[in-house]
Amino acid sequence: MFIIAANWKMNGNSLFAQNYAAKLENFIAENRPLPEIIILPPAPLFSQLKGSFKLGGQNCHALEKGAFTGETSALLLKDMGCEYVLCGHSERREAGETSADVAAKAETAHGTGLKTIICVGEKDGEDFARVVFPQLDKSLPHCATKDNTVIAYEPVWAIGTGRTPTAEDIARCHEQIAEKTGLKVMYGGSVKPENTAEISAIKNVGGLLVGGASLDVDGFINIIQAAKR
Ligand code: PGA
Repeated sequence: MFIIAANWKMNGNSLFAQNYAAKLENFIAENRPLPEIIILPPAPLFSQLKGSFKLGGQNCHALEKGAFTGETSALLLKDMGCEYVLCGHSERREAGETSADVAAKAETAHGTGLKTIICVGEKDGEDFARVVFPQLDKSLPHCATKDNTVIAYEPVWAIGTGRTPTAEDIARCHEQIAEKTGLKVMYGGSVKPENTAEISAIKNVGGLLVGGASLDVDGFINIIQAAKR
């Protein structure tokens, strides 16, 4: 099924989450069947987000529990109702997370029964294959399967910039990732209502990871409506 995920990053509060969930839930109730919809809020907001959409964490720790102040475990995400966790978002890689860290987190997440969305992508001026192939080799744990892992291809230069690759470039990169991994490949980077129909129709685009444009629930609903089913 096509996946549409809303990555709120470090945004939102309890009132925002409650209003968002209510509006999204109304829309879902009246518009089934829909793609798989996942909300990735800051962890303290999980309890404010009850609905028929799915929940995911933005990150988890590589170990199951312990003395790691400020961290969130995969087990706790599962307990809070999450089905997914994002691993290796470029904003976390930029803060020092390595592909080996990503694989360790994903392995632990799979062990708890969570599915992972593993993010890869090249920076501005970098060569796609030279960066993304090694990222895939090192970030995917051995236990990754079609049932527990989705890749999110996010060219770093497209995140939050309003710039997107051409449809041809997205098609080429997604085809190569799909061929190499056999996994579903979501696209992320400046997805908005206006470019959703074109991007979601590209072969081997199995979903969308939406950041900034997901913070407006009406805009996010427009994206869901514009995407392929
Ligand atoms: P953006 O973010 O949609 O704001 O570009 C995407 C992401 O970082 O996942």
